[in-house]
Amino acid sequence: MVDRGKFLAAAERPEEQAAAGVPAGSAMPGPLLLMGAPGAGKGTQAKKIMAVWRMPQIWTGGILRDNRARGTDLGRQAKQVMDEGKLVPDDLVNRMVAERLAAPDVARGYILDGYPRTLGQARWLDELLAGQGAPGGALPVIAVSLAVGYNQLLRRVTGRRICPTCQRTYNVYLQPPKADTVCDVDGALLAQRADDAEEVFHERMRTYEILTAPVLEHYRQSGRLVEVNGDRSVSGVSAEILHAVEELRRQRNS
Ligand code: AP5
Ligand code: MG
Repeated sequence: MVDRGKFLAAAERPEEQAAAGVPAGSAMPGPLLLMGAPGAGKGTQAKKIMAVWRMPQIWTGGILRDNRARGTDLGRQAKQVMDEGKLVPDDLVNRMVAERLAAPDVARGYILDGYPRTLGQARWLDELLAGQGAPGGALPVIAVSLAVGYNQLLRRVTGRRICPTCQRTYNVYLQPPKADTVCDVDGALLAQRADDAEEVFHERMRTYEILTAPVLEHYRQSGRLVEVNGDRSVSGVSAEILHAVEELRRQRNS
């Protein structure tokens, strides 16, 4: 049985993984899906988990943003829907995910942050993972849902600020930088995501309720859903996720 307190320590200080009993190398976390409404903490938790289990975070919103910044066809097609708080069409996102999952670093597992967001994407992923040589090995996918109340999500999203230099994330209400508007690490002026404006947040929430919430049911029905209370401290949520995933893997192996 893995000790939750030790997991918590490992989430805070990845270099202590071995001492904490996290079985580095032998641990096969397999494919994890981090799901939740805008601001639920998917990106924050993905970074914690990747540090503990040494597997990559695949953030579909981030890949789309990168394409926008580079002015690719995909970026141009994605721009308007993202700015309006809607979803990029399934075929574009699926193709993007397939390309990313062809990279060798996913062999032991990976964290899909913000994918799938529609039933169509979930079914497409099921088929991909059912094929021979599926990325992340033979382990079944586990979907982790982070639950946070509407008003807290609003504060998290509208308060979020990002350092354009080191990408560190702050929150003016919940995790403020030491000096008002600049990054603690490099002193760069913090920026706000365009889709973090309050009116776009409400539209992102509508999109989530209509298109993404049903995806949770898809994973619940097949016993592959872990539901975590995301309205706690960052390290408390990390510990809960690591523990719950470990437990589900154990049950399915027995
Ligand atoms: P994406 O960039 O993924 O945005 P999102 O899903 O709306 O989620 P966020 O990144 O805003 O929130 P998060 O859950 O990662 O929270 P975070 O950890 O940052 O997608 C953007 C757009 O791309 C979509 O709207 C869509 O158009 C498109 N797209 C992406 N994927 C797609 C797909 N699969 N299909 C189609 N289109 C797609 O935390 C938020 C804030 O809260 C931060 O300030 C953080 O510091 C703070 N915080 C986090 N955890 C805690 C905590 N426990 N306590 C206190 N504060 C906390
Ligand atoms: Mg995110």
